[in-house]
Amino acid sequence: MGINRNPTEANKGAKTNIQWFPGHMAKARRLLAENLSKVDAVVELLDARAPLSSENPEIDKLLKNKPRVVAANKSDLADPAVTAEYVRIFKERGIRLIPVDSRSGAGTAQVREALFELMAEKLSRKAEKGLQQYTIKTMVVGIPNVGKSTFINRLLGRNKAVTGDRPGVTRGEQWLRVDDRIVLLDTPGLLWPRFDDQRTGFVLSCAGSIKDDVTDRSEIASFLLLYLLDNYKGVLADKYGIDEAAVLEEAADNTVSRLGTVGFRALEEVALKNGCLRKGGVADVDRASAKVLDDLRAGRLGRISLDLPEGFTR
Ligand code: G4P
Repeated sequence: MGINRNPTEANKGAKTNIQWFPGHMAKARRLLAENLSKVDAVVELLDARAPLSSENPEIDKLLKNKPRVVAANKSDLADPAVTAEYVRIFKERGIRLIPVDSRSGAGTAQVREALFELMAEKLSRKAEKGLQQYTIKTMVVGIPNVGKSTFINRLLGRNKAVTGDRPGVTRGEQWLRVDDRIVLLDTPGLLWPRFDDQRTGFVLSCAGSIKDDVTDRSEIASFLLLYLLDNYKGVLADKYGIDEAAVLEEAADNTVSRLGTVGFRALEEVALKNGCLRKGGVADVDRASAKVLDDLRAGRLGRISLDLPEGFTR
């Protein structure tokens, strides 16, 4: 990792292009701490397709005891059976996981309700002190591209920003009004993803939360294709016309690395069967890689979850 001399991106809500140098992480951590001190509760967004991989590795430590609602965004793209299983798993951990689709707005009303439930005690304490109209202050946090801005816009609907001169609202800060009891800090809290294992890196790249460049795109696409062959049988045959059994069998002898053999073989097949060709009819794996990743991210491969719970079989 290099030394970061220009950490401004960490505050821009920049999408997938953040390279998380130590300076970016330090800045994101500092900003989060600052903003946390202003809010009563936090809405943490995870990617419903990868609820474990999209969790910030230090989230409990970062949020300390701040009450939080956890939403699994992009649930429209995730496998519903897997999402239901995660709801159960998170419940066991004492966390209510709320599936959300920020594009349609499904689930956002439940997030509001959950915020109220979470704050019920505080609201009644305030009411006892005569503060009937206490406004809950909250903020959204999550890793890049998880859908923070889309979620905020959906939660707000047509409501307007609230600035300045309200009791308890410091001048210069911008709060967005969700309803007459909840305001939201205008800038979402940007969190860094987990970096500690290769699989998580691949999953987050597939999901679009880590930038993929041309050099590693074919590796990411090979990972995806291998994962689909193993866990979502029939998807590649239906979408790209490849013979899944033949790909698996052809590569079966070579056990060096299934990613480089089965995954890459599948990628070549996708290229050959879908017109991604170079001169002389050679498979253009770069084009095929871009295609499968685009198709996944746009939901054209169907509803796919990338983190399967342990022991979960489809
Ligand atoms: P961020 O602030 O966390 O970085 O994420 P942002 O809201 O910018 O969303 C990143 C991408 O994810 C956007 O797509 C957005 O439309 C999409 N997105 C957000 N929430 C959902 C959801 O619940 N379901 C689905 N299917 N997509 C969601 P984009 O391709 O980058 O932009 P655009 O095509 O929407 O303009």
